[in-house]
Amino acid sequence: MMPVNLRSRPWVFAAPLAGVSDWPYRKIAKRYGADYVFAEMIAAEGLIRNNLRTCELLYRFEGETNIGCQLFGNRPEAVAEAAEMVEGLGFDSIDFNCGCPVHKVVGKNGGAALLKDLPLLERIVTATVKKISIPFSIKMRTGWDSKHPTYLEVGRIAEGSGAAYICLHARAQTEFFSPEVHWEHIRQLKETVSIPVIGNGGIKTAEDALRMHNETGCDGVMVATATLGNPFLFREIRTLLDTGTPEPRVCNEERILTCLEHVRGIVERFGESAGIKRSRKLLGWYYRGITGRKRVDPQLFQVNTYAEVECYLAAAVEATRENAA
Ligand SMILES: Cc1cc2nc3c(=O)[nH]c(=O)nc-3n(C[C@H](O)[C@H](O)[C@H](O)COP(=O)(O)O)c2cc1C
Repeated sequence: MMPVNLRSRPWVFAAPLAGVSDWPYRKIAKRYGADYVFAEMIAAEGLIRNNLRTCELLYRFEGETNIGCQLFGNRPEAVAEAAEMVEGLGFDSIDFNCGCPVHKVVGKNGGAALLKDLPLLERIVTATVKKISIPFSIKMRTGWDSKHPTYLEVGRIAEGSGAAYICLHARAQTEFFSPEVHWEHIRQLKETVSIPVIGNGGIKTAEDALRMHNETGCDGVMVATATLGNPFLFREIRTLLDTGTPEPRVCNEERILTCLEHVRGIVERFGESAGIKRSRKLLGWYYRGITGRKRVDPQLFQVNTYAEVECYLAAAVEATRENAA
């Protein structure tokens, strides 16, 4: 069973983003056209030990649907047990991380390190699929390094072990987040497996998403970095995929109102002090999209209260009006 009907139209996925894809991000992403979202990646081991910080990452807003939970780990029993717990919490699907390149994760043989140990990866998928009744997917990179691609083999393993779909981030682990992406691998994976394939990597604009869909035949597209401070991209992609016509550019006022809503959500979720600290990077991301703006004032990254954020953004809009006059 699929989390969504991936055969009906190309679905637009908001990627799992550690430190970002909390419920305020997801709520706004959904409103702007993301069909499916993910909570922040969590450690299977942390969840089964009831680690509070891990469990907090599972908060959802009331009535939130079409949401997956992404797990990472390297012990089949732990991933399977954590997946069972997540199913009990009402998530629609579980994704397994085989792409995270950071030392903290690969150093423990998790994330992209599993692309070098396919027998272990197969045991994890088999054990987990057996334990749950919701769909299980894999999000992976093309391989550990570009000379040793393993994505086709992982695709066959995932399909043979009962995964519902696969998402391919078209870079190898050693390529980290380099500008170069290899969409041809998405097409090759699509030609190799019969379960749906979601393409990820390097989508910056709605036109990129359409091009990825056309060039690879992928069943859906997943977007990450280009949506930071720019959730409007989900709507732009949805509209272009559905109608072939581009959306007009979002105005400064909508950008700022959405930014304020996002910050309010984060303050509600984490409290004002921690929430504003968490929002500082977000302010910079939203600010980047404002047309006619001045250079980002370093003060923006020193705000401490929601009132200061409002004040700063009101001044930014005023400045863009003056510049336009
Ligand atoms: C800040 C940040 C956090 C991320 N966290 C995760 C994560 O928790 N799980 C995951 O599978 N990928 C994670 N990624 C990778 C993205 O989901 C995505 O695969 C990658 O950025 C490529 O897509 P893009 O080119 O659209 O950015 C993260 C990326 C960034 C920049």
